Amino acid sequence: MRDTPARPVRERAPARIPDREQNAARLLRASARHSYDPETEIDWAAPIDPDLFALPAHRVALYGTPLWESLDARRQAQLSVHQLASVTSAGIWFELVLMEGLIRHVYDGDLTTRHAQYALTEVADECRHSTMFARYITATGYPSARPTPQAHRRGKLHFLLNDTTLTFAGAVFVEEFTDAMQREMVRDETLQPLARAVARIHVIEEARHIGYARPELERRWAAMGPARRAVFRRGLLVLARLAVAELVHPRVYTLAGLDARAARQAAAENPHWRQARIDWARKAVEFFTELGVIDRRTAPRWRRAGLLA
Ligand SMILES: [Fe+2]
Ligand SMILES: [Fe+2]
Repeated sequence: MRDTPARPVRERAPARIPDREQNAARLLRASARHSYDPETEIDWAAPIDPDLFALPAHRVALYGTPLWESLDARRQAQLSVHQLASVTSAGIWFELVLMEGLIRHVYDGDLTTRHAQYALTEVADECRHSTMFARYITATGYPSARPTPQAHRRGKLHFLLNDTTLTFAGAVFVEEFTDAMQREMVRDETLQPLARAVARIHVIEEARHIGYARPELERRWAAMGPARRAVFRRGLLVLARLAVAELVHPRVYTLAGLDARAARQAAAENPHWRQARIDWARKAVEFFTELGVIDRRTAPRWRRAGLLA
């Protein structure tokens, strides 16, 4: 009998997706080595210098606008601190939604797997992060850690929908976005030390979360049919837009003595702010494009949302 040449096998999932258990075991080992308790790692009692920016100036939503120019240097610095506090409260909102999704994921799974054990480890990380974020908000004098009513309602809707794949895709988007922003903060030694200390801990621990969510999304996406993919593409865009809209709460502008409506309009039209969002979203957007979650038809909507150049 004649040998037939081996035909390439079309796999359901690309071969480069790491083995689920091996990946989880690696992440658990990394967690054991590099986990931080912000209660003891951070000097919460250190005074905050009111002249230091918490974000690089060009990353503040109003940077370069006439409203920005109307503020003196100290008020510009305070605006950057309040913007970061607002981003941080959006971070808490997202982490609470993510934790709920991870708990449900474990509830549907088997806790003897390393994969499920890692999900709980990530919940433990996020518990510390949300507490750390809340302490940061309090330290800055920003008045609340609550999201906008719209985000609050959408979060509850996500609890009802219980879409684990969307939870993982949302995690990739928000964690890559935050990671890009916080890496800039860690690199910039002129920024407020407290903000940088929070960012440093978060960057280290979030790298593992991204390493958990990316292959999980990849596996789930590979198993999805065309109809489900079409719905999913829209769902993710809604989530990404909401997460980004939540970054700067209107109260940030009110606290600066500005008209919130005029300031939001100025930020929406500000090319610097558009560039910041595109830069911070880049890694997630590239990953979604590579997978086909963002395709030729949905890319223009991501562009209109100011998340793609
Ligand atoms: Fe986190
Ligand atoms: Fe995370």
